[in-house]
Amino acid sequence: MPKTVIVGVSGGIAAYKSAYLVSALTKRGYDVHVIMTQNALEFVSALTFETISGNAAITDTFMKRENHDVLHVSLAKKADMVIVAPATANVLGKVASGIADDMLTTTLLASKCPVVFAPAMNTAMYEDAVTQSNITKLNELGYHVMDTGIGMLACRDEGAGRMKEPDEIIAFADSVFESLYDMHGINVLISAGPTREAIDPVRYLSNNSSGKMGYSLAQAAVSRGANVTLVSGPVSLDAPEKAQMINVVSAQSMEQAMTHHAKNADIIISCAAVADYTPANVSDTKIKKNDDMSLRLIRTKDILKILGEAKTENQILVGFAAETNDFDKYAKAKLESKNLDIIALNDVSRPGEGFGADTNNIKLFFKDNSEADLGVDSKEILAKSIINSIFEYRLKTTR
Ligand SMILES: Cc1cc2nc3c(=O)[nH]c(=O)nc-3n(C[C@H](O)[C@H](O)[C@H](O)COP(=O)(O)O)c2cc1C
Repeated sequence: MPKTVIVGVSGGIAAYKSAYLVSALTKRGYDVHVIMTQNALEFVSALTFETISGNAAITDTFMKRENHDVLHVSLAKKADMVIVAPATANVLGKVASGIADDMLTTTLLASKCPVVFAPAMNTAMYEDAVTQSNITKLNELGYHVMDTGIGMLACRDEGAGRMKEPDEIIAFADSVFESLYDMHGINVLISAGPTREAIDPVRYLSNNSSGKMGYSLAQAAVSRGANVTLVSGPVSLDAPEKAQMINVVSAQSMEQAMTHHAKNADIIISCAAVADYTPANVSDTKIKKNDDMSLRLIRTKDILKILGEAKTENQILVGFAAETNDFDKYAKAKLESKNLDIIALNDVSRPGEGFGADTNNIKLFFKDNSEADLGVDSKEILAKSIINSIFEYRLKTTR
């Protein structure tokens, strides 16, 4: 369920009912932030919402802030859901047209989370072709516009346009949330990027992994509501929003982080390119130039094998195999030997794909002997398909 909910209140008579809505959401333990339009202030005071929600009601885009963050952007990023109730004909029209001229509409444009509108207006306004066309457009754009109730309106007219009751709005928002965030409550642990094995204070052994595949997987799982922990080697990528980041450098620190966080994970995806070898001795001082030099390497711990051995009954363990030949054979052998549930085979023989590239070529092999060829695509699209396959396999196989 959402943690942070923005309730947008616009200027209609039904604004008084939003006090109950905010109260009910707050009682559920949500962090509720109310944004009111200037016209909503004609109907209900900001103080009512501030007292019920325990947070300042925001009414002005240019409000002075102590910490100088851009409030409509920071709130939009923090929000798990926005509910606009009542949504006036005016607000529906503005959002459908991309107008952002006050705090509510600006925040709506900046939000990536699900948005629910509970329209409320006079029947003639609601049935007007422009309003209906705005509602159709909003639904097509991915917003969730509720129907209205039919009955006696505040203006004494009888017909459609009555705002749904707060409990119905909450039930609708719950159903939207559950359908979009079907991985809510699932703990996903992902490793990504390369490791660096120190030779001396300035040199190291590493590889070409960019981390893009692992970061895309983390983003895809976050987008479906999973609690994602991303253990990352050194990469130059932005952390996915709402993922818990654990930054590591060496294979040893990656192993420690992965085994520690694996204990609470429902799904573990090992996507990092971990060094197989590390220098036997690390020099404390910079090694001076010689005519020749040899470096003795020792094996690092096999993280995937350790995770496979420690795997609990309902845990799904997913590995990646980057191969250049005998693809299916090597992938299936690794699935078996590491006690994996799924292995993602990555054909790295094709130029421009795989390591460091934006595209990849993935085939999945499952423990139940099924296979899924996901083909060549961008890492973002493949990540969504991989996460979907893992989730469906988990539904099928765990109790
Ligand atoms: C008493 C009164 C009640 C109103 N009720 C509604 C309403 O229920 N729905 C609506 O769309 N507009 C209603 N309006 C008109 C809006 O307040 C008006 O369109 C306003 O510009 C909306 O501003 P906002 O969308 O920025 O809050 C009402 C106006 C008055 C004076």
